[in-house]
Amino acid sequence: MDLKTLATERGVDVDKFYRGIGQEQMAVPAPDEDVVTLGANAAHGLATAGELEDVELLLFATESGIDQSKAAGVFVHRLLGLSERCRTVELKQACYSGTAAVQLAVQYVARHPEKKALVITADIARYELKSPGEATQGCGAAALIISANPRLLCLEEEAGFYTEDVMDFWRPNYRSEALVDGKYSTLVYIRALETCWKQYQALSGRSLSDVDFFCYHIPFTKMAEKAHRKLFRSVGASVSASEIEAALKDSLTYSRRLGNCYTASMYVGLASLLEQTNRDLTGKRIGLFSYGSGCVGEFFSGIVQPGYQSILHGAPHQEMLRDRTELSYQQYEDIFNYRVPTDGGVYIFPEYRTGPYRLKGINGHKREYESLVESDESSSAR
Ligand code: HMG
Repeated sequence: MDLKTLATERGVDVDKFYRGIGQEQMAVPAPDEDVVTLGANAAHGLATAGELEDVELLLFATESGIDQSKAAGVFVHRLLGLSERCRTVELKQACYSGTAAVQLAVQYVARHPEKKALVITADIARYELKSPGEATQGCGAAALIISANPRLLCLEEEAGFYTEDVMDFWRPNYRSEALVDGKYSTLVYIRALETCWKQYQALSGRSLSDVDFFCYHIPFTKMAEKAHRKLFRSVGASVSASEIEAALKDSLTYSRRLGNCYTASMYVGLASLLEQTNRDLTGKRIGLFSYGSGCVGEFFSGIVQPGYQSILHGAPHQEMLRDRTELSYQQYEDIFNYRVPTDGGVYIFPEYRTGPYRLKGINGHKREYESLVESDESSSAR
């Protein structure tokens, strides 16, 4: 949905959304999508390219889980046809858990260099209708292969990380929308960033000028721009608005059109940077700041690898963004208010234009997924 549609409905100047928070569109999941289908769809290209054969660890990071017991990754494991010799688990710490998964996976492949780990981050951001957070909603997923021989980004050892028990954003189990102390959350985000940077700086001996590009967690794109300004200010340096725009524009392009994807946001930003820039980034250092409310933050970095361009997915990503159906306000509100039936009956859901995998229905409280890419009956199972 274009945020001008929301602005009109809420009686707000559209520039508050387009410029003030820096968002143009909001990705809204169809009723036959959930984090399982978002995650499986994100990893589908890796499966068809034969990249998942040596995967023995599947870490699924989300804060929009569909079950209190079973990991969403176990459904994805079957949809993608992964080997039964695989450890699969779901991780949670707001938007941060994707980065926890990446760092755990790095340790795994350090010990098993011939194996790979698959990290999937997938989320659906929901705030109450008419709340300040509403315009930042979105959804999306990112799938990452972690291996001992990275072809995209080689992660460096130093990292600054930070935990503080705060209530800036949370979602009790009985609610489907997040609660948030919005302004406070932006302050805690900055505090975590500055603390993580100081640690990273002390461990690595690097200064801000040693980092060529920055990717931030992107709850809304203006937040990343503010974070960049504050980070430089915290070390006594200053950056102008045009320098900030030049430094971050490519990493924010996709998020402006998706909205917050929680665990996936920073990784969507990384894909956006690598795919949208017209410069060769080989050998460049990218600094990454991951933040999850509650809160945990981490600053780490990686070096872009030679030949990285050959494994980017820029064209399909552009097509996915283009190929979406624009929603009217009423359609958005209907989807927002829709809930998967909870009476234990048998339901088949209509098919929307999603991706290779969809939530086909629910039967006796069991979600049933289907693959639209294989005719094999075994791929359409519970
Ligand atoms: P708000 O309070 O309604 O907005 O919502 P505002 O009144 O502060 O306006 C926002 C900006 O738009 C301001 O600029 C206005 O001046 C400007 P700023 O002072 O910030 O530079 N503005 C305009 N600009 C141009 N033309 C206009 C116009 N009108 C106003 N006409 C708030 C803002 C962040 C509170 C809200 O979006 C919110 O609650 N968001 C959700 C929380 C959030 O995203 N927090 C970010 C940090 S926490 C985090 O990142 C973790 C998270 O991803 C969750 C997780 O970890 O799982 C959220």
